[in-house]
Amino acid sequence: MYVFVLTLHSYVRWAVLVLGLVALVMAWSAHFSRSRWTQPQANLGRLFSGVFDLQVLLGVLLYTWLSPVTTSAFRDMGAAMRNPSQRFFVAEHLLMMVVAAVLVHIGVARARKKDAPLQAAIFYTLAFVAVLAGIPWGQAPLFRGF
Ligand code: HEM
Repeated sequence: MYVFVLTLHSYVRWAVLVLGLVALVMAWSAHFSRSRWTQPQANLGRLFSGVFDLQVLLGVLLYTWLSPVTTSAFRDMGAAMRNPSQRFFVAEHLLMMVVAAVLVHIGVARARKKDAPLQAAIFYTLAFVAVLAGIPWGQAPLFRGF
């Protein structure tokens, strides 16, 4: 179960990154071409936030229940905070991804309410940067299992 959810979490990362990049490029191009927010753009934002939420759900399963990294850290949080790789998953990864999730949802909501590509573009870009910064690039394989 642990390996299955971890592998899924590892690959869904690529879906989040690709959808986030396409969503933010489309939002910026809508802003600069001064066009209105179209249905495909709104749908893409919703798909981005849906896949993001799935990734958060998988992450929460790992964090609270399955991951030996976090469950062993919870037994001695003081020691975990002094260990950079444990601290990364217990605190930094969680914090960056929660911030990113909030930004994605604000972007989707603003775009829907105000027909505002600029607001979507700004929030998607900030979310994308937070995701990039929160991914454990050096501590996990790019393609788990290969
Ligand atoms: C609140 C949201 C999230 C939580 C609580 C969370 C939690 C975790 C935990 C506990 C691990 C370590 C698993 C282990 O090695 O035992 C992990 C790994 C990882 N997380 Fe997250 N995560 C979240 C969101 C995200 C998001 C949004 C992304 C990327 C879009 C992401 C990408 C990754 C990657 C790439 C790994 C390494 C997977 C591997 O070792 O192959 N996480 N996450």
